[in-house]
Amino acid sequence: MVRLIVERIGAKTVHEVRRDITIMDAAKIHDLGLACECGGAVICATCHVIVSPEWIDKLEPSIEAELDMLDAIEGREADSRLGCQIVLTEELDGLEVRVPGSADM
Ligand code: FES
Repeated sequence: MVRLIVERIGAKTVHEVRRDITIMDAAKIHDLGLACECGGAVICATCHVIVSPEWIDKLEPSIEAELDMLDAIEGREADSRLGCQIVLTEELDGLEVRVPGSADM
């Protein structure tokens, strides 16, 4: 298990999440407020999260499709990523992300 810290509507919650699943998968299990409508096909951006600055460099780089999708997001921030593209490996234990208002369900 890894810890995933999620800030949503101003409140932070800590979730014990199965290792090696994506934030999208964790969102479905833990009700994180991400719609994840395309199921990880990188065509919806409803899994948009903003990663805490201290964690952003620890993530695997974005693939081209993710970068294209991020470009289309209204309210994109410097540390925006798609939750379906972030695998919660052991190295990411304690990862902190924020769910933007636009992604609230
Ligand atoms: S779930 Fe659709 S882009 Fe991530």
